Amino acid sequence: MPAAVPLHPDALSERGDLDLLQRFQSLDALLAEHDYFWKPRPFETVHPSWRHAHPELYNAVSRLSDAEVDICSTEPARFQDIAQPFFPWLQELLRASELVAASSRPLTFSSFDAVHAPGRKWRQVTAFAAALPPLSGRVHDWCSGKGHLARAITGANDVTMYCFELDAQLCESGQALADKQKLPIRYVRQDLLQPFDSYKEEYRGGWRLGLHACGQLHVNLLRACVEGAADGLAIAPCCYHKLCLGAHYQPLSAAARQASLTLSLKDVSLSVQETVTASAKERAQREKESQWRLGFDALQRQLRNKDEYLPTPSLPKAMLNGDFTAFCAWAAQEKQLILPEDIDYVQFAAAGRSRYREVRRIELVRHLFRRPLEIWLALDRALFLQEQGYEVTMREFCSREITPRNILLVGRRQKDSTNESGLSAC
Ligand SMILES: C[S@@+](CC[C@H](N)C(=O)[O-])C[C@H]1O[C@@H](n2cnc3c(N)ncnc32)[C@H](O)[C@@H]1O
Repeated sequence: MPAAVPLHPDALSERGDLDLLQRFQSLDALLAEHDYFWKPRPFETVHPSWRHAHPELYNAVSRLSDAEVDICSTEPARFQDIAQPFFPWLQELLRASELVAASSRPLTFSSFDAVHAPGRKWRQVTAFAAALPPLSGRVHDWCSGKGHLARAITGANDVTMYCFELDAQLCESGQALADKQKLPIRYVRQDLLQPFDSYKEEYRGGWRLGLHACGQLHVNLLRACVEGAADGLAIAPCCYHKLCLGAHYQPLSAAARQASLTLSLKDVSLSVQETVTASAKERAQREKESQWRLGFDALQRQLRNKDEYLPTPSLPKAMLNGDFTAFCAWAAQEKQLILPEDIDYVQFAAAGRSRYREVRRIELVRHLFRRPLEIWLALDRALFLQEQGYEVTMREFCSREITPRNILLVGRRQKDSTNESGLSAC
């Protein structure tokens, strides 16, 4: 395994940005070298394999109280402090994962628009719009939804917007809102997973935006930008693991194709595991469900006489109002297992609670790698654009409390670059 590439101080630009390739190589080496901490899923594996090689770390996390685990789960920096003495390379990993905040233009937005967008979504939209360079001419919004971003952009820039969206109802209500305000926005109903004629004269050049276009959708957006010689683009990627073909992550850039790290789509999903939006009730429900699933896992391992995780389908939410015994009956039926009469449900419920206690603590270690992995994936996109003749910056457009999917990639096509990629749209 290659040693981590230390970041050289010259890798810093005037604004404090790190060189993208150096950053990528540093993250790649560290993520690959320490993948036994984050690739195995604690929910599926009883006890982490690393506990024998790192007994002090295992004891330290096992000793954490529930209150400490709660704090570390919501404030990653707290657990980084605890983990630091065990991981001499942690500072390097965190340093390579740190992003500079995007500078923000002082824009004013119409209060009419805010009424139509839920609070947190509107804060994301306005932060994203304010972090963009001044725009003019033709701008495409990919996966526009109801067009909150398009309305914010047209209010603050001299542009004509095209909103591309699959959902007919969102297109209709978005167009109605834009027409009511006489905004220059045109909706195009389009399945952006299907081959899309980005060479059409009408769609060439201009800027392309993608705020939280999932997985393959934003990858298609990048490819369409290159093919359609877009002047620039700005994306906030999300759901890197979704809508992709195959079980493995397909690197976009030459740098990622030569990387040490190889990823299954399951590995990739770690990058978006953080949520900041769940209510206390939702968190309590999730906790109950996890404990039940882990209790059933202990039961099925004994029943099948196989020390192996057995995935169960998603649960009808009403079932959470019932009890553990009913849950086991449902899960057994789903997996075609016969439950004997004499099962000690109290014991298996307790085993579920105990496994859950360990899973939460082991997840803290795993989550040290969550943001670095997300940055690695975003860098793959940034380096792909660089290779295709775009000048790229990678910043944070808002705080993680507004959305943890807060990475903003902005690419501007270098005037002398020609598209020789021969890429296909999907
Ligand atoms: C997470 S939402 C983001 C919406 C909007 N950009 C925003 O930030 O408010 C993703 C959007 O992608 C749309 N979408 C999903 N699959 C699509 C596809 N195959 N083609 C076009 N749009 C799609 C959904 O209908 C949804 O509006």
